Amino acid sequence: MTTKPLRFGLVGTGYWAQVTHAPALAATDGVEFAAVWGRDPRAAADLAGAYQAAPHHDVSAFLAGIDAVSFAVPPDVQVAIATRAAREGKHLLLEKPVALTEAAADGLVEAVEQAGVASVVFFIQRFQPDVRAWLAEVEARGGWAGGVSAWLGSALRESNPFNTRWRRDKGGLWDVGPHMVSLLWASLGPVTSVTADAGLADVTHLVLHHQGGATSTTTVTLGAAEAASGFEAYVWGESGRLAAPLGSVDRVTALSTALAELAATARARRTRHPCDARFGRDVGRVLAEAQRQIDARRAGHACA
Ligand SMILES: NC(=O)c1ccc[n+]([C@@H]2O[C@H](COP(=O)([O-])OP(=O)(O)OC[C@H]3O[C@@H](n4cnc5c(N)ncnc54)[C@H](OP(=O)(O)O)[C@@H]3O)[C@@H](O)[C@H]2O)c1
Repeated sequence: MTTKPLRFGLVGTGYWAQVTHAPALAATDGVEFAAVWGRDPRAAADLAGAYQAAPHHDVSAFLAGIDAVSFAVPPDVQVAIATRAAREGKHLLLEKPVALTEAAADGLVEAVEQAGVASVVFFIQRFQPDVRAWLAEVEARGGWAGGVSAWLGSALRESNPFNTRWRRDKGGLWDVGPHMVSLLWASLGPVTSVTADAGLADVTHLVLHHQGGATSTTTVTLGAAEAASGFEAYVWGESGRLAAPLGSVDRVTALSTALAELAATARARRTRHPCDARFGRDVGRVLAEAQRQIDARRAGHACA
C-alpha cells in the first residue's frame, strides 16, 4: 500500500525560506511541496516556480489546498497564520521562537490541541544526528551538576542575511536564546526558573535552574564581531565534561528530519513530539520571564 504524501505549503519567501525551507520541503520523502504564500506576489511566484509549486497571495486559498504548513516568517507573523492554520486542521512546522508574547503562544497551543494537529518547532540542533547522539550520552551517563553555554552571533552586522527587523527589535535573547534554552532543557531537564541580566548592547546572560537540581548558564548576543562569533555548550559533573558537537550544521538535512518527523506524527494521528508547539511555548515562557527581569532592571536604572 502506498501512503499519499502530506501536501505542504511554505509561508515566507525570504532568505531562510529560499536556502533551507524550500530545498528541505523538496527533498523530504513523504512530503509534497505544493504551495508558497508570500506578501510579495512576485517573490511567491519566483520561489514557487522554482519548485513547481502553486504561488498564493491569499491565505484562505493557500490553506485550502494543503495538509501542513512550514513557516519562514518573523515570529509575530508566524503565530497569527499558524493559529488560523491549526484551527483549519493543518499540521505545523514552526520556527523558533513560536511567538513573541506569552498570550499569542498560549493561543497557538490551544488551537493546536483543540484541533488535534501535529506540530514540530525547528530547534535546529535537536534535529542534528551528532547532537542527538550527544544528548543520548548525556542521558546515559547522568549525574550532571550543570551546564555552560554561549551563542555569540553576528546577525546584526550590516551584511548578514539575518539582519532582519524583528531581530534588531528583539535581539539574541529571542533569536538564538530559544536554541540554547531548548538544548539545556533537553540535556539537564525542564527549566524551573530563570534569572536574567543584560550586558553591553545586545548581550543577555541567563542562569537556569532545572528540575532535579542542576543549574546552567548561557550568554547570547547577535552583536558579536565576526572574529568572536561562535557557539558552545557543555555539561559537567562527576564524570567530567561533555561538550555538545555544535560545529557543523547541515540545515537542509536537519529541517528534512523535522519535516519527516512531523509527517510521521501526523500520519500516526499523534500530536506530541519532544519539540512540539507546547515545548516551543514553554521555552518562550523562559524568554518572556527573562525579558521582564531585564526590562525591570533597565527601568530601575532609568529611575535611579
Ligand atoms: N531554526 C533556525 O536555525 C533558524 C535560522 C534562521 C531563521 N530562523 C527563523 O526563520 C524565521 C524567518 O527568518 P528571518 O527572520 O531571517 O526572515 P527572512 O528569511 O528575512 O524572511 C522573512 C520573510 O517574512 C516575510 N515577512 C516579513 N514581515 C512580514 C509581514 N509583516 N507580513 C508578512 N510577511 C512578512 C518577508 O517578506 P518580504 O520579503 O516581503 O519582506 C520574508 O518572506 C524566523 O522565525 C527565524 O527565527 C530559524
